[in-house]
Amino acid sequence: MILLETLDEHQSTSFMLKNTNLYLIGMMGSGKSTVGQHLATALGYQFFDTDALIMQITRQTIPELFATGEPTFRAIETQVLAQLTPHTRLVVATGGGVVTQLPNWAYLHTGIVVWLEVPSKLLWQRLSQDTTQRPLLQTSEHLAELFKQREALYRQADVIVQATACPERVCEQVLIAIQERLAQDASSIPVR
Ligand code: S3P
Repeated sequence: MILLETLDEHQSTSFMLKNTNLYLIGMMGSGKSTVGQHLATALGYQFFDTDALIMQITRQTIPELFATGEPTFRAIETQVLAQLTPHTRLVVATGGGVVTQLPNWAYLHTGIVVWLEVPSKLLWQRLSQDTTQRPLLQTSEHLAELFKQREALYRQADVIVQATACPERVCEQVLIAIQERLAQDASSIPVR
């Protein structure tokens, strides 16, 4: 019964979305890629991760790209985002710093922007068990400082979800939050 209700919920969210893309934003370690894959499955959307695309296109790792200067990485990140936005029915997990570049917001706002909000202490705990190489991940203090610098930018999302639970639960929370947001204001869906 619960499963049926959940399925109905997903189908109606998918219907309400009218093929609009979802862009997941948030700090490194907030679960954008894992939650994004769950969301894509639930909605029958395609999933993309901008960091993975950047590595695929450039055939370089993120640390290698950062070694040539952060602006190089950011420029490629913007190009990748630009190339995704003309498509529909996508869930896109973005890199944690995507919000820091003003031009990226023009692309993000072509879809629904979802912030996975996680306190920096929990991010640090999660990231200390993660083997992904992240050039901007240094100390817990630096992570907290980055979070502080970016918080107001993340807060510009259309939907904000406290993403401290397991990925499956966070996926449900995102779907419910989107439904609530759309029920309040259907015009908040960008017209495709
Ligand atoms: C970054 C986050 C990383 C990656 C790069 C820079 C950031 O992505 O894009 O290392 O500026 O916070 P994740 O958020 O997927 O770790």
